[in-house]
Amino acid sequence: MRNTVLVVDGGGRGAVLVDKYAQSEHVDRVLAVPGNDLMKINTDKSVITYPKVKTTSVREILEICVQEKVNLVDVAQDNAVEAGLLDALVEKGIPTVGPTKKAGQIEWDKAWAREFGERHDIPQPCFKVCSSPQEGFDYIESQPNQPWFIKASGLAEGKGALPAKNNEEAKQQIKEMARFKKAGEVFLIEQWLRGDDDSAGEEFSSYIFSDGKNYKIVGHAQDHKRVNNFDVGENTGGMGCSTPPLVLEEELLTKVERTILDRVINGLHQEGRPYKGVLYLGGMAVKEKSEQVPYVVEFNARWGDPEAEVILPGLENDLFEVGMAIAEGDLSSIQLKTDSRARVVIAGASKGYPGNYQNVKGKQIFGLNEARKYPGVKIYSAGINEQGGRHFANGGRLFYIVGEGNNAIEARQKAYEAMSMVSIDGNNLHYRTDIGWRDVQRLRLQQALSLSSAR
Ligand code: GLY
Repeated sequence: MRNTVLVVDGGGRGAVLVDKYAQSEHVDRVLAVPGNDLMKINTDKSVITYPKVKTTSVREILEICVQEKVNLVDVAQDNAVEAGLLDALVEKGIPTVGPTKKAGQIEWDKAWAREFGERHDIPQPCFKVCSSPQEGFDYIESQPNQPWFIKASGLAEGKGALPAKNNEEAKQQIKEMARFKKAGEVFLIEQWLRGDDDSAGEEFSSYIFSDGKNYKIVGHAQDHKRVNNFDVGENTGGMGCSTPPLVLEEELLTKVERTILDRVINGLHQEGRPYKGVLYLGGMAVKEKSEQVPYVVEFNARWGDPEAEVILPGLENDLFEVGMAIAEGDLSSIQLKTDSRARVVIAGASKGYPGNYQNVKGKQIFGLNEARKYPGVKIYSAGINEQGGRHFANGGRLFYIVGEGNNAIEARQKAYEAMSMVSIDGNNLHYRTDIGWRDVQRLRLQQALSLSSAR
C-alpha cells in the first residue's frame, strides 16, 4: 500500500523527518507544513511543501489532510502542540505522532512541568514560580547570593532560559522576561545545578518514542546551545551536537530510565494525559558522592533540532511502521535498531544570529551542492530559499551538515571538511568550530593514555 505522510515543521528537524519517512517502503509521498525549499534533496520520492501555511493553522492543516488523503501526520513543532493540532487531528480520526495539548503541557508550560515533576519525585533543580517581576525580586532578595537560571514558562523558541551568575544578575534577567511577552509573564527562578564538590554538571539529551503507556529509547545527544566557541555568547536553538554522548555510561543511563523516563511516562498516564509521540529529555549529569546523578533541565514535546539530525539517520527501523505503532497506541511489536555510528552535526547560521541577522537575508550561499557530495556527510536544510538552482539565506539557522564516523573525532572531521566548502556572500556564514569538544577531548585523552601504556 502506498501512503502519504505529512510532517509539520520547517527546519532541519523537518528535513530529516521527510528524509526518513521517504525511506519507508510504505510511503510514496511526503508533505511538509511549511517545509522548506531544499527538503527534497535527500530523496527521489515526491515531496510537497506548503510555505504559506503556518504550523499553528489547525484548520488549513486539517484541510490538507483531507484533500491529500494523508495517512499519518508527524507534528515536530512545539507551537503546533500548544495550538491543539494533535487534538484536532485525533478528533478527525487521522493517525498522528505527537502529544495532545494536555500531554504537551510538559513543554509549553514550564511552571506546570516543574510542579508535575515534584508530584512524581522526578529529580530537578529547586525552583520558584513567579507571576510578576516584583515577586521575583522579593524571592531573590530572600536568598543567599548564588548563580541562577531565569526561565520563561511559555514557548520562546528555545531561547527563554537566561543564566545569571549571582543575585544581582538574576534581578536584571527577571527584567528581561518582558522581551518574551506572553511567554515570559510567568517565569521560573531555578538554582543552577552543580555537583556536591561544586563541579559543573554536563548536559545531555535523551529521546524516546512513547505510545502513551510504554516507551522505547531511540538515542541520546549532546547539544551546544551558546552561539560561540567555548560555550560563550547568547543561547540559540542549538549550534550543533554529537551522538552518542560519552557521559551517558551504563550506570547513569539506568538512573535516567528509572528516576526520570519511567516516572514521566507513568505520571502523565496516571494524570490522564497519556503521552504519544517523541519526548525529549534535556538532562544534566551532576556529581554527587562521586557518582553521576541525572537531573531534568527541561522536557520538550518533540524532537530536538539539530539533535534529530544526528539521531534519526542512525535509526534502522522503518519510521512509518514506528509512527503507525505510536498512533495506534502500541509500540510493543517494534524492536528499535540503531546503527551504532557516531554523528556530529554543525549548524550553518547567518552572521548575527541569534541577534540581528537581517542584512544577511537574501545573500547567496555557495558550495552546498559540492559539500553534499562529500563522503560520509548529509545536509539538512532550514532557512534557505532556492531560485534557479541557486541558494539564498532566509533565516537564522540556515542548514545543518552531519558527518558520520566510528567516533566523534572522525564524524566531526567529516562535517567540518564539508563545512569548509560552504560560504555566504560577504563572509556572512557563522558556525562554531568546536562542536563535540567534550567527547573529542575524552577520546584524545583515552588515545594518549593507551599510547603511553603501550610504551
Ligand atoms: N536543540 C535544542 C532544541 O531543539 O530545543
